[in-house]
Amino acid sequence: MSKIAIVDKIHSDGIKLLEKNQKFQHEVIEDLSKENLISKLPAFDGITLRRGKIDAEILEKCKNLKVISRHGVGYDNVDIKFLKKNNITLLVTATTASVSPAEHIMFMILNISKGKNFYDQAVRNGKFESIMHMKNNNNFELANKKILIVGFGRIGRKLIKRCLGFEMKVYAYDPFVDQKTIEYLGGIKVNDLNDGLKEADILSLSVPLTEKTHNMINLEKMKMMKKSAVIINTSRGSVVNEKDLNEALNTGILYGAGLDVFEKEPPDNDNPLLKNKRIVLSPHAATFTNECRSNMSIETVQNVIDFFENKMNKSMIVKL
Ligand SMILES: NC(=O)c1ccc[n+]([C@@H]2O[C@H](COP(=O)([O-])OP(=O)(O)OC[C@H]3O[C@@H](n4cnc5c(N)ncnc54)[C@H](O)[C@@H]3O)[C@@H](O)[C@H]2O)c1
Repeated sequence: MSKIAIVDKIHSDGIKLLEKNQKFQHEVIEDLSKENLISKLPAFDGITLRRGKIDAEILEKCKNLKVISRHGVGYDNVDIKFLKKNNITLLVTATTASVSPAEHIMFMILNISKGKNFYDQAVRNGKFESIMHMKNNNNFELANKKILIVGFGRIGRKLIKRCLGFEMKVYAYDPFVDQKTIEYLGGIKVNDLNDGLKEADILSLSVPLTEKTHNMINLEKMKMMKKSAVIINTSRGSVVNEKDLNEALNTGILYGAGLDVFEKEPPDNDNPLLKNKRIVLSPHAATFTNECRSNMSIETVQNVIDFFENKMNKSMIVKL
């Protein structure tokens, strides 16, 4: 019998799969502190991991561990060098975590372009009539606007369809995806990030957090963009420099932003981004739909089961 640790609570649909399979025993671990993980995890053969950081010090103690199955596709919360060295398999939810994030990016773009926060507050505060006669506002149509998608993977490819539905012009910057693939899906390949930034009305980031993408969008890059431009970051907080973004929004270098992710999660109460009205915020919630949460929990657990039953779908395995 294999023992599986469910690190951080997941939707019950995934747990049910383990409950009805006699070959597995499981325990849900909700206390994500390092002390707790280091004391609990050595007893397990497999781990499913949503939030929680599993570093080399913890892994060192997990002598039975054969597989980590991420509830998600990013894996910056696991020490992958250790996994590689010790032949521990890393799995991700490759098929279920892209529709909701792509929709979430559209939700943020639409919120900003249609002034949702402003209108919502205005109507609630009895300003309906005065808004009706406002001469100018900053709202804009998406049709014919240029969006630059940085990172043309699973989410980027779902996003392009939604953008084309809104008649936007889609540019994609991803050095690892060829022109043919991007053009086939209706986009235009950008070879130089700076060229894309200069053209973009909207920049959306869907890249993994790596040494190369850390602080990829800093003040220097923001200054290349149009003053009317909007940045949407649903990838990882550190891909966009938060301090620079705040400055850019406060000094008119950029118009607006949508952030689902933060350098530190949850962000500190005194993080100035929380007070910046030019930003639409959400709590790392791009996958928080009923469908996505259920499907991701099932895929996360099914991946572990398939691993131990030797029938792994190769597309779920991360090449370390
Ligand atoms: N906010 C959320 O809840 C949420 C949900 C899902 C994914 N994510 C984040 O979004 C990221 C993307 O997800 P995905 O499923 O599309 O991943 P993916 O691996 O399918 O696609 C990522 C793409 O980024 C490209 N890329 C890598 N380095 C790059 C670079 N330096 N410049 C440009 N492109 C680069 C890759 O070639 C790849 O095509 C994940 O790594 C994760 O961090 C966040």
